[in-house]
Amino acid sequence: MKIICRCEDITEDEIIQKIKEGYKTMDDLKRIIRVTMGRCQGRGCRRLIAQILARELGLPVEAIKQPTFRPPTKPVPISATEDK
Ligand code: FES
Repeated sequence: MKIICRCEDITEDEIIQKIKEGYKTMDDLKRIIRVTMGRCQGRGCRRLIAQILARELGLPVEAIKQPTFRPPTKPVPISATEDK
């Protein structure tokens, strides 16, 4: 058992199973098993998942589209939004 996404505790076998079920993009995998959605936002697993997808689909790794990114927001004090 090889853990690929440590934040979400997802193994290589689980990823391969989902690819075989028809989830063939990074965004598909992100939505169905939450890979790249953990604390590190995919920094620890994104590249590995792209390599697994490429291998399982018989594509070059450059052909694997990266998932959609939404940078984390950070709290802003209310005073920063008030008109002065
Ligand atoms: S290792 Fe996958 S989101 Fe952090």
